[in-house]
Amino acid sequence: MTAAIAAPEFIRQVAHSFGKACDSYLPAARLQQQVALDALTLLPADKQGHLLDLGCGPGWIHPRFAAYCRHFTAADLSAGMLAKAASQQLAPHLTTTLTTAYVQADAQQLPLAAHSVDKLFSSLMLQWCPKPAAVFAEIDRVLAPGGRVVLTTLVDGTLAELKQAFASLDQQQHVNRFLPAAEVIAAAKPVSTVRWQFEQRCYPLFYPDVISLARELKALGANQVAGRQSRGLTGKGYWQNLAAAYDNNRTALGLPASYQVLIISGYKNAS
Ligand SMILES: C[S@@+](CC[C@H](N)C(=O)[O-])C[C@H]1O[C@@H](n2cnc3c(N)ncnc32)[C@H](O)[C@@H]1O
Repeated sequence: MTAAIAAPEFIRQVAHSFGKACDSYLPAARLQQQVALDALTLLPADKQGHLLDLGCGPGWIHPRFAAYCRHFTAADLSAGMLAKAASQQLAPHLTTTLTTAYVQADAQQLPLAAHSVDKLFSSLMLQWCPKPAAVFAEIDRVLAPGGRVVLTTLVDGTLAELKQAFASLDQQQHVNRFLPAAEVIAAAKPVSTVRWQFEQRCYPLFYPDVISLARELKALGANQVAGRQSRGLTGKGYWQNLAAAYDNNRTALGLPASYQVLIISGYKNAS
C-alpha cells in the first residue's frame, strides 16, 4: 500500500468507504466468503476461549464462531460495518453458549488488554492497514501464551489483469498497490513469540465484463485507492477503451481477475 496519502487520512477514508458499503457488501463478497471460510478451518474448533475477529465487516461469519470459542469480540474501524455485525441475530441455540462484544477500533492500536485473546482471526483486513508491522505488534500484545492466530491478506499480483488494462491507457494509479508477500512476511517475523506459517494461494474469479468487476469492488467498499491523484475514470470512451484492453484476457468462463491471498497462521509460545 502506498504512503502517498497521510496514514490518518487514509484510515478515515477506508472507514468511510466500508461504512458506505455495509449494506451492499455481503452479496458482492464472493471472494471474501471463500477466503474466510478456508482460513477459519486453520483454527481449532474446540468451542473454547476468547476469539477476536479483527476487521469483522458485517459479521456474516459470526454464527460459525460458536464452534471455535465461548466468547468473541468483533472489531472494525467502520461504525457502519460494526453496527451491521451487531444487528445480526444469532440463533437462540448459539446465544446460550456464546457471548459477544463489538468494538470500534483500529487494528494498529487495539483497546484490548494484553494476553486477553486466545484465538485471533482476521480475514482480508490487513491490506487496508498502512502499518502492517503495527498490527502484528498488537497481535503479539493481545494474544495469550498458547494462543492461535489466522490472518489473510491480499498481496501483490492481485487484480493484475485490471492493472495491466489500466496501464495500457494511462500512467495513473487506479488499483490499490498491494504489498509483495515478502514484505508482509517481513512485518510479521519480528514477532518472535509466534511460530508463523505462510502460504500464498491464488483465487481466480470471473466476470462477464469489466463494469461488473468495478461494480463489485464498489459494492464491497474496496474501491478506495491510496495515493490516487485524480478521479480518472470519467468519459464513456475511457470505459470502452478499458473494456477493450481487459477483453484481451477473456476466457470461456469470462474475464478473469486474480486475487493473490497470503494466509498467515501462527501459534504463540505457551510461555
Ligand atoms: C474486505 S472487508 C473484510 C470483512 C470480513 N473480515 C470478511 O471477511 O468479510 C475489510 C474490513 O476491514 C475493516 N478495516 C480496514 N482497516 C481496518 C483497521 N485499520 N482496523 C480495523 N478494521 C479495519 C474495514 O472497515 C472492513 O470492514
